[in-house]
Amino acid sequence: MSAGDAAIQSVMALIEARYGLNPRLQHDRLSAFFADRSALQRQNLADHLHTAPETDSVWQALIEAMLVHETFFFRHNDQLAVVARDILPVLRQRALGKPLQLWCAGCSTGEEAYTLAFLLRDTGCTGKILASDLSPESVAEAVAGLYRRKPGLNSFRALPEAAWRYFEAVAGDGWRVMPEVRAMVSFQVHNLMRTLQPPLAADLISCRNTMIYFSDDSRRHVEASLVAAAKPGTVLLLGPAERLRYTDVFVPMTDAHPQILHWPLPGGA
Ligand SMILES: C[S@@+](CC[C@H](N)C(=O)[O-])C[C@H]1O[C@@H](n2cnc3c(N)ncnc32)[C@H](O)[C@@H]1O
Repeated sequence: MSAGDAAIQSVMALIEARYGLNPRLQHDRLSAFFADRSALQRQNLADHLHTAPETDSVWQALIEAMLVHETFFFRHNDQLAVVARDILPVLRQRALGKPLQLWCAGCSTGEEAYTLAFLLRDTGCTGKILASDLSPESVAEAVAGLYRRKPGLNSFRALPEAAWRYFEAVAGDGWRVMPEVRAMVSFQVHNLMRTLQPPLAADLISCRNTMIYFSDDSRRHVEASLVAAAKPGTVLLLGPAERLRYTDVFVPMTDAHPQILHWPLPGGA
């Protein structure tokens, strides 16, 4: 292995330790980030990354280059239909008039968090959504809540016709989520390798299509973060390809939807 390759390997291990990302999935993106540099420059870059804090601009650029932000409104709508029909009414009843607290973990540019807000409104629930992502750039886009109907696979590709009422047109082919819906969601930059601060006891957590990018070992930390933000009765939504490995706190609610889990209440309610 050349010195330059060793530098890439060492940064890969560092990215896994700090952010949980699976080295196998990062290899090509990381090689592209290091491309066009001599072996010495690669080593210098690696040395810098080993000592610089996470707020360092090179780290920020590197992490942005590693992340996949693919998302859209009403993604996995079959699962969301079950949430709207069977789950939110039960959570609302259980909350006895208190607003529900939802956490959208790995929210990317906000489409999933706003979709949850639409569902709360559709089902007559009051609630607040905390939405978090590692990427400051994505979080800034999410806060703006402005989306474009560009050709091809845009954020609206699965939007039901009725949900257009939650948007207002903005000059230049943009659509902004209505202010009253945006007010239901607060966004923050958060690394899922760490426990959420301040702590949360969420009624529903959605962590979909995010754990797939983590290494096996790192998932232990993510799962611990999810458990730390939950309580008996919490419902957890995962993406279709995801399952929990390190905790048995959450169990699937039905055989038909193994990615809709909950922390059973004492007495099985
Ligand atoms: C593919 S997107 C999924 C977005 C949305 N949950 C969905 O299902 O449409 C994965 C998101 O996970 C975020 N992510 C990756 N590693 C993370 C980490 N360590 N902590 C928090 N978010 C992370 C990425 O920035 C990205 O926005």
